Amino acid sequence: MGTATKIGAHTSAGMAARFREVRAMTENLAAPLSAEDQMVQSCFEASPTKWHRAHTTWFFETFVLSPHARAYRSFDDRFRFFFNSYYDNVGDRPERTTRGMMSRPSSEDVARYRMHVDAAIEQLLLETADGAVLRLVELGLNHEQQHQELIVTDIKHAFWTNPLHPAYWPSEAHNATAPPSPATWLEYPGGIAEVGHSGPDFAFDNEGPRHKVFLLDYAIASRLVTNGEYLEFVQDGGYETATLWLSEGWETVRANRWRAPLYWHLRDGDWYYFTCGGDRKLNVDEPVCHVSYFEADAYARWRGARLPTEFEWEHAAQGHAISGNFLESGLVNPRVAKPGTTQLFGDCWEWTSSAYSPYPGFRAAEGALGEYNGKFMCNQYVLRGGSCATPQSHIRATYRNFFPAQTRWQFSGIRLASDLSNHAEARSSDGR
Ligand SMILES: [Fe+2]
Repeated sequence: MGTATKIGAHTSAGMAARFREVRAMTENLAAPLSAEDQMVQSCFEASPTKWHRAHTTWFFETFVLSPHARAYRSFDDRFRFFFNSYYDNVGDRPERTTRGMMSRPSSEDVARYRMHVDAAIEQLLLETADGAVLRLVELGLNHEQQHQELIVTDIKHAFWTNPLHPAYWPSEAHNATAPPSPATWLEYPGGIAEVGHSGPDFAFDNEGPRHKVFLLDYAIASRLVTNGEYLEFVQDGGYETATLWLSEGWETVRANRWRAPLYWHLRDGDWYYFTCGGDRKLNVDEPVCHVSYFEADAYARWRGARLPTEFEWEHAAQGHAISGNFLESGLVNPRVAKPGTTQLFGDCWEWTSSAYSPYPGFRAAEGALGEYNGKFMCNQYVLRGGSCATPQSHIRATYRNFFPAQTRWQFSGIRLASDLSNHAEARSSDGR
């Protein structure tokens, strides 16, 4: 017993309060969904809502309660296998693609499973102030927040796959009073910069160690690329011009017959897009969203620019407050840039040109939790900044999200970057 041990800003009591809050948010996100909705798995990347609710519970049971709560009795021993996602150290698991075929356990059983584990975690937090336990609970909560974002993105894809195009989250369309200001370049001097996480606050292992990188002078755009700006690329034949694309990107465009971002569709000559609130006419002032790395890269090339590296992005973001359009806004859609905001945090995850690799000195932890991030450091790109489906307390300037280059079902958008030497050349050629 006691409250002497602190993890970041958390005591045992503080962690219990945060635990209740995060667990409740998951149930809030599932509340508009029927049992049938919660079973759908509409693509390889996505999982059913019911599975997310159970797997996040499994995480606490497997990594906190089993090793640290001596009196704990599992809700159902078979769930250790059933709701394992990818942890080889924990053992075998069902094929990922079969998650949408499991009508049992029912949604009600999953709710009971959640309550069983919630009660046990709360009891544990009453009995211990062990820093190792608090750190594991904090990891479990951050894990659950990642799955909260996945609940949103996965059900959005499921409802898009359904020809009825139902609304998941019937929020009002965001009607900005004015279009965003024209994007300008924010210029940064290069040199030696420090990136990566250090300190007592929570971060995932892939955000460290903090280390030095060398940056050339660079510029990043003052806001995200809008639907209207991206539409110019579409209408200029961007999707039919092989020379704009990486080879693998061009193959992907042709194989999948991509003509626009995911969720865009033409009706009687007008562009519409599917949102969590249902089909809407494309708002040209909102940030473009649901584009792959390939599309972000081709668009940047078409504009005569490039994507930022993850280090340029982090260096630029370091001085900015973590404010923006997050899950808590209830919009679950990117929002038109307000004057004076950079959209570095929230709205859309921003593709960077950086491969998802270990930082110098990175070592995955021993055992199952070492599998959390490290084993995925291959064939993926880093995205930064969080999205309109990310809980605000989940994101940091050092946060590294990662997806394969063809991924589009996340709220992923585009920020342009440029070498300052290009600007100098452009200026001097203007002057001649
Ligand atoms: Fe997970």
